[in-house]
Parts: sequence; C-alpha cells; structure tokens
Amino acid sequence: MARFFRTTAVATVLAAFADHAIAAAVTGPSSNCPARFPWEDSILTDADVAASGDPARFAFGDDITDDNLKHRHRGGAEPADCRAFPGNPSWPSAATWSLLNTTLSGTLLQTVPLAAPCYADWPAQYDAAVCANLTTNWGDPYLHIADPTSAMFPLFQGLTCLPTDNPTGGNCTLGGFASYSVAAKETRQIQLAVNFARNENLRLVVKNTGHDFADKSIGAGALSVWTHGLKDIEFVSDYSCQGYSGPAFKLGSGVITDEIYAAAEEHEVTVVGGVCRTVGIAGGYIAGGGHSPMAPLVGMGADQVLSMEVVLPNGRFVSASADENPDLFWALRGGGGSTYGVVTSVTIRAYPKIPVTTMTFSYATSENLTADTFFDGLGAYMKYFDTFSSAGAYGYFFVAQIAPEQYVFSFFPMWGANYTKPEFTKLVTPYLNDLADLGIPIEPIITEYPSHYQAFLGQFPAESVGGYDNHAASRLFPKDNFKDPAKRAETLAAVRYAIEDGGVLVGYNIRAAVNPAANQDNSVNPAWREATGFFILAVAWGKDATDEEIAQASEKLTTDWMGRWRAVSPGAGSYMSEGDINEPDFQQAFYGTHYPRLRALKEKYDPTSLFYAPTAVGSEDWYITDQIEWFPKQTGRLCRKKSS
Ligand SMILES: Cc1cc2nc3c(=O)[nH]c(=O)nc-3n(C[C@H](O)[C@H](O)[C@H](O)COP(=O)(O)OP(=O)(O)OC[C@H]3O[C@@H](n4cnc5c(N)ncnc54)[C@H](O)[C@@H]3O)c2cc1C
Ligand SMILES: *[C@@H]1O[C@H](CO)[C@@H](O)[C@H](O)[C@H]1NC(C)=O
Ligand SMILES: *[C@@H]1O[C@H](CO)[C@@H](O)[C@H](O)[C@H]1NC(C)=O
Ligand SMILES: *[C@@H]1O[C@H](CO)[C@@H](O)[C@H](O)[C@H]1NC(C)=O
Ligand SMILES: *[C@@H]1O[C@H](CO)[C@@H](O)[C@H](O)[C@H]1NC(C)=O
Ligand SMILES: *[C@@H]1O[C@H](CO)[C@@H](O)[C@H](O)[C@H]1NC(C)=O
Repeated sequence: MARFFRTTAVATVLAAFADHAIAAAVTGPSSNCPARFPWEDSILTDADVAASGDPARFAFGDDITDDNLKHRHRGGAEPADCRAFPGNPSWPSAATWSLLNTTLSGTLLQTVPLAAPCYADWPAQYDAAVCANLTTNWGDPYLHIADPTSAMFPLFQGLTCLPTDNPTGGNCTLGGFASYSVAAKETRQIQLAVNFARNENLRLVVKNTGHDFADKSIGAGALSVWTHGLKDIEFVSDYSCQGYSGPAFKLGSGVITDEIYAAAEEHEVTVVGGVCRTVGIAGGYIAGGGHSPMAPLVGMGADQVLSMEVVLPNGRFVSASADENPDLFWALRGGGGSTYGVVTSVTIRAYPKIPVTTMTFSYATSENLTADTFFDGLGAYMKYFDTFSSAGAYGYFFVAQIAPEQYVFSFFPMWGANYTKPEFTKLVTPYLNDLADLGIPIEPIITEYPSHYQAFLGQFPAESVGGYDNHAASRLFPKDNFKDPAKRAETLAAVRYAIEDGGVLVGYNIRAAVNPAANQDNSVNPAWREATGFFILAVAWGKDATDEEIAQASEKLTTDWMGRWRAVSPGAGSYMSEGDINEPDFQQAFYGTHYPRLRALKEKYDPTSLFYAPTAVGSEDWYITDQIEWFPKQTGRLCRKKSS
C-alpha cells in the first residue's frame, strides 16, 4: 500500500504542474483562472490501479461498452440485466469490500439508517436517548445532511425506518438506502468508487444533501458517493478566464446555499442560489437548472457557471467549460444530477452587491370575501406576471384551502432584486389598487434590505424537512398563460379546480432573464425560458395512509389535477428538481427539445448507464423490481428493460 500512496503523491504534483503549465500556455499571462482545489489534484492514475492489488476491480472504463461489461459479469443464475444486489451470487464478498476500503484509505462506510437507534433490532445502535433526540430533530435538514445516506423526504425510500418510540413495534431496514457509502474527501476516492461500481456491476448513486423530493440520491443495493464533505469556497475577485472578467467563486460540490450566500456577503457581492438554506449549489441545484429570486434579473443558476470539474463514468477526471469538453459542459448545466458523472467543484459568476426590497401580505376568504372574489384576487396577480418578472421582480406565494370553501393566499415574499423601497412600491401599486378595487383587504409589509443575504435571512426561515405525508408535481406556465385574458381565465380555472379539490399550491412568478453576460447556451429545460409562472402542486394524505392510498392520491395529482394544467399549457414543461416522479412523458416535460442531444451525450459519456436516477436522462431503459403503480420506491433491484 505504501507504494500506492507514493505514486499518488507524485502524480498529484505532476498533475498540478501540468495544469498550471497548460493554463499559462493557453490563456496567456493576463488570465486568472482558479486552479483546482488541492484535494482535486489527488488523482487516481493508471499506475495506482496497477498497484492496487486487484487492477481488474479498479480499472478505468476507457473502452468499456455495455456489451463487454455484460460479457464479463452476467449470465449464470442471476437476472441477466440487473445490477448486483445484496444476497445475490454476484454481490461482492466481504473480502472484496474490505479491499475497496483499504484502497480508499478506510473511508468506506457501511450504511445504517439514521433512525436505527430507535429500533431494538439494531442492538449496536439502539439507544433511547439518541432516538428521542432524533425524533425531536427529525425536521432539521442538517441532521440528514450529516448522515451518509439519509434522504430528507423519505417517501420513496419506502419509509422502512422512521423514528418511533416503540422499539419493538417494527423492524428497521435499509429499504431504499444505499448499502455502502464513500465519504469523499478527494478526487481519487470518487474515481475508485466509480471504477469499482462499474467493474462490479453495482448500482451507483450520488448523495450530496439528500434534498431531492424524488429521492434521486438513494437506491437499494447501491454504492453511494457522498459529496457533502467537499466544502471549499474560494473567492476570486479578479477572475479573468472563459470570456468573463470579474468576481467569481469556486466552490466544492458539498457547499450549500447558506454557506455561499454568507461568503458572498463577506466579499460584498451577490450570487445566484435557491431560497432554501440547505440545497447543494454545485450538486442537484445547478445540474437541474436552478431557480432563484435573482432569476428574473440575471437568469438561471446553471447560466452562471464558468467551469466545472467532474469524474466521468469511465473514472477519468476532466474539466468542463466552454473551452474544454464543451458538450459535457452543456449537458452538466441543466441535464440533471447523477447522469454524466460526479461533479467535484464549479466556478460561478458573482454580481455586485445589490439592495433587495420584499413585500409580504396574506388574505383569506371571510364573511366579506367570497371564494369567487378570492380567486379573482389570484387572477389580478396573474395579470401582472409578465410586468413584474420583466421588471426583474420575483414572487413566491402559497394558496390553499383551509376549510371547505375557505382559502388563504400568502406571499413568502414578493422580491425585488436591485430595488429600493420607493422603486418597488411604484412597481406593485397598480396590483395593490386592483386588489383594493376587488374589496380584498390587505396590509402589505414592504421592507428594504441592503443586500441579498440580509433579505434572504430576513424572509426565508430555515426549512423543515423529514415529511412523507405529501407528494408534488409542477408546471412551467408560459407567459401567454397569464398575459392573454382568455388563457389566463383557463389557467386560473385549472388552478382553482386543484385547490378546491384539496391541492396545495406553491407558486412562483418568475422568469429566466435573458442575460448576454452569462453563458445561457446550456441544457436548462427550454420551458424555463418561456415561463413567467412556475407552480408546484402538492397532494397530501394522513400520516398513516396505506401504500394504496398514497398511490391513489398520487394518481389523482398526476392525471386529474395536473392533466388539467397540462391541457391549458400544451407543449410546456415541468422542473425536474421539483417535479413529479410519475410525470408522464418526463423526457419532454423535464428536458423539452434538449432531450435527444442529452440522450446522445449520455450514450457518449456513460455507455454502460452506470449513473441512474429516477427521471434522469436514460432512466427510461431501467426499472426497479417490486413496484406498485403510482408509488415507485427505491427498495427493489435496478434492472434493464428487455426491449431496449
Ligand atoms: C425545501 C426545498 C426548497 C428548494 N428550493 C429550490 C429553489 O429555490 N430553487 C431550485 O432551483 N430548487 C430548489 N429546490 C430543489 C433542489 O434544487 C433539488 O432538490 C436539488 O436536486 C437538490 O440538490 P442537492 O445536491 O442538494 O440534493 P441531493 O438530493 O443530494 O442530490 C440531488 C440529485 O443530484 C445528484 N447530485 C448531487 N450532487 C452531485 C454531484 N456532485 N455530481 C453529480 N450529481 C450530483 C444526486 O445524485 C441526485 O440525483 C428545493 C428543494 C427543497 C426540498
Ligand atoms: C473501513 O476501514 C475503516 C478503518 O479501518 C473502518 O473504521 C471502517 O469500519 C471500514 N469500513 C467498512 C465498511 O468495513
Ligand atoms: C441531538 O441532535 C443534534 C442534531 O440534530 C446534535 O447536534 C446534538 O448533539 C444531539 N444531542 C445529543 C445529546 O445527542
Ligand atoms: C421483525 O422481523 C422478524 C424476523 O423477520 C419477525 O419475526 C418479526 O415479526 C418482525 N417484527 C415486526 C414487528 O414486524
Ligand atoms: C366584514 O365587514 C364588516 C363591515 O365592514 C366588518 O364589521 C367586519 O369586521 C368584516 N369582517 C371581516 C372578517 O373582515
Ligand atoms: C442594479 O441597478 C443598477 C442601477 O440602478 C445597475 O447599474 C446595475 O447593473 C443593476 N445590477 C444588476 C445586477 O442588475
């Protein structure tokens, strides 16, 4: 093993030297492109593989095709086209896992469900005090982020190990959680995990925060790469590279929204991130497109990316930018997480510090406000969607039924990036007048903040997670759905139908600004470029709902409620990162006209389909065993469909 480490150290130095030499030669002395992080320069080499003790298990997949992989692994008593699964003959032996662990310098973790301390059938973990603490803090996102496999919204994990105060009332199992996890601290470990998973025919998943509503970061019988530990943030005040000069941040893929916003505040700049404090910026957020209160001003999160570093499905580590691997760069910015490799870091633009003005108010039906007038108020807001978003403003709101025939509307808030209070007040006054004309009483609170981060802290409370009593779908409504009076009426009727039937609407008045200064030639769903409304619709059920009840509610959401939304927005799309795992024709809805190119690039970069996640590019070739319709879980074995 000693030889292995020495080889790695030499390779690291050489690689770092080569990178700098190439950067200097290509871009000239006036450029300032940030170097890779030191841990990114710890790279697996062919010499390391040769010295690893079992080269076949750790070899790169340079020339691998599905056919030669199949030839190597499949046949015998097992389903020919399935990934290895615990308990099956092709599952690696304890000695093989141990070899992987040694090669990884001891960073391999055998996964344990987060709530195992609540269960007597996990004697090594069982601890009533720890369980009580877990139960109290279950909604805390940091609890799930700090765990190698936990998912924040465990519905599709199968709900096989929830906190309980009855330690013998049930058995806790892994369900949809991965079997092993690599707590990545350097590139080399990710490369080893990727090579091992491919060579052993394992399912591979990538977990960053576990934020994804569709539980795309987990999978039964998987080896998981856990990117949470990749926390570096580097501010480059005078970045000059990739055709852009100005402030930029290079961030490791474990960095979350709150951390990058705080760093931006410290350096007196503004960056694009979400509204949720704990979403992983360089993980699922940028990969999915990334919307934010800055979108109507400067575009999507993915539009801000200058370069990325990524471990490919063949195990090689490459840079992706407009200059290097431009097709991969295109696909990684909008084509979805866990599809083209494991991103280790991204470099994003930063903008000057700006003031932000926000507005909140709520109103509800009452003896003086009928349901019809209530929905007229929503229509009055929709009338301004194009005006507001064209002016750079953003609205985040909530509409729900609170009792039969009773409804509430709330802003969470409306947000004017780069607006002072007088400017913002002028923008919203016509809308407020329209509400007054309808007799809707409101008391708007308008607040100016000196920076994006101050507004974020003031307006977005820390999120609560851990729930499994609802499921959501979403629609990106084109601007004509709100601008054109007849279409607006149809859209409002379709929205009202769902809310009257118990749906909960989380709405955004948002657009993706055209920003010539940013790089918008990427794979972000084209539906984002047309939309001024992004509406998430959730269906809820009781805590003790059966699988059949969950499936039934999910079917109603997808077919009846969303069917009406699709009917009034033909050809539009949905947002993959806050979308429906049951979305019909998800290729069109989540990727639009980019799908064929994304699919071709999937075949180019991942010919054996090593990376899989539900609704990811290429996932239509696979299925998970033991499913019930409308309630897909990650608890079964991943197998390839026969027809493909
Ligand atoms: C409360 C809440 C608020 C949200 N707010 C917003 C918002 O304002 N704007 C917005 O656009 N979205 C928002 N989202 C959606 C969010 O963008 C997605 O959930 C996103 O997938 C989270 O990415 P993650 O890396 O944190 O999560 P994870 O669940 O860990 O990962 C998500 C997906 O990305 C993959 N992935 C993660 N890291 C990597 C990596 N380094 N390389 C390759 N693949 C990787 C995973 O395998 C998985 O498929 C919100 C979600 C929630 C739950
Ligand atoms: C990997 O090795 C480390 C260090 O020896 C050990 O603590 C850990 O439990 C091992 N992991 C597995 C899955 O055996
Ligand atoms: C309780 O859980 C929190 C995290 O949610 C942790 O910070 C704290 O240390 C735990 N306390 C005990 C006594 O285990
Ligand atoms: C837990 O599993 C054991 C062994 O499979 C089984 O006998 C027992 O009934 C289960 N307990 C519960 C509460 O489901
Ligand atoms: C309804 O209007 C009447 C008359 O203006 C007023 O007294 C009452 O408080 C209002 N009720 C609500 C719930 O606003
Ligand atoms: C903010 O507004 C000022 C002028 O009021 C403008 O110069 C600046 O470019 C704007 N910033 C952004 C990020 O749009």
